[in-house]
Amino acid sequence: DIKKPSVTGLEGVVAADTAISLVDGDKGHLVLRGYWAKELALKHAFEEVAHLIWRGSLPSDDQFNQLKKKLANERDLPEYTINILKQLPEQMDMMSVLRALVGTFVLEGARWPPTLDQAVAITAKIPTIIAYRHRLIQGKALVAPKANLSHIENYLYMLSGEAPQPAHVQALEAYSILTMEHGMNASTFTARVISSTESDIVSAISGAIGAMKGPLHGGAPSGVIEMLEEIGNKEQVEAWIRGALERGERLMGFGHRVYKTHDPRSLALKEMIGSLEGQDEWLDLAYEVEKQAVELLEEFKPGRRLYTNVEFYAAAIMRAVQLPEQLFSPTFTLSRTVGWTAHVLEQAENNRIFRPQSTYIGRTPN
Ligand code: CMC
Repeated sequence: DIKKPSVTGLEGVVAADTAISLVDGDKGHLVLRGYWAKELALKHAFEEVAHLIWRGSLPSDDQFNQLKKKLANERDLPEYTINILKQLPEQMDMMSVLRALVGTFVLEGARWPPTLDQAVAITAKIPTIIAYRHRLIQGKALVAPKANLSHIENYLYMLSGEAPQPAHVQALEAYSILTMEHGMNASTFTARVISSTESDIVSAISGAIGAMKGPLHGGAPSGVIEMLEEIGNKEQVEAWIRGALERGERLMGFGHRVYKTHDPRSLALKEMIGSLEGQDEWLDLAYEVEKQAVELLEEFKPGRRLYTNVEFYAAAIMRAVQLPEQLFSPTFTLSRTVGWTAHVLEQAENNRIFRPQSTYIGRTPN
């Protein structure tokens, strides 16, 4: 008989040294290149933090303007990519569209080693793919990127065709900074594994998008909205959660491989969302779900230390800035691309191919 494989999910395994971020799961700390993620999210722009993640330091005014200009110059998609986009079947989900279209990029520079210019080009183009696809599906005319808008402002503008509200830009920018980079998570690991074969950065990022799509990783915020919609009102919270846990289901937006206390990103988003207008009723329900879920998770899964993760309040932020549910994971992707590409560059600094081993539990020949 072949025994059931044990599953470790590589828990606790250190796969690489990194200078990009520190995730301390016991203390609930997230540090990006020496700075608290929350402070960066509250005080800095997307492009400033992208510079920090890619280059290791916050930019001077000149460097900040240069990076903004570089990103703005790279936003357009090549004609052939737009043509492919128009041919894709309507039922293809947005993450698959992203995975496929990023795969069409032919970037300047060598296949190996990857360059910062390539990282900037991919990061700049991803919001355009999302916005173009979104408008095509809705039968609306494409809205070309505007070079004088910031990365996040331009994203919201291309989606709606209208100037976004400053409060929405600010909230989404803070969310994007908080989710830009997060250690050796599944998609970042995927990108590094692909890059370690000395394959190109386009392949690494296409692969990372595939990993990000899964509901246990970047696909969770849609699950949070579905859960809150099904629960409907405060009176139903306990019965609904109890039912789900009795059936052995997972609550989306709760639990984390590394954080065994509150996810600092979730705390920061919770603080921020409280100041956005028009969310009171919905947020009331979310707060109640969080409270009861944490208690019930402790009852059903004692000692596992399950709290809200970043996805729980991310769903609230995206809802508040009026992004439809199908754009939640793609929006997470557009910010995490900075982290992925930084890891691809870091991997290339001192590369060795990833090649772990497995324990054979199958039959042996007689
Ligand atoms: N709801 C119910 N039970 C849970 C949950 C949950 N959300 N998360 C973990 N558990 C239980 C799990 O059933 C297991 O119980 P037991 O010991 O009886 O088998 C125990 O807690 C430990 O779970 P695990 O599966 O060993 O934990 P993991 O580190 O492999 O998984 C996780 C981490 C994030 C995949 C998991 O907590 C989960 O599935 N959460 C729901 C999906 C989610 O919100 N994902 C977003 C993650 S944060 C952003 C990102 O990384 O993209």
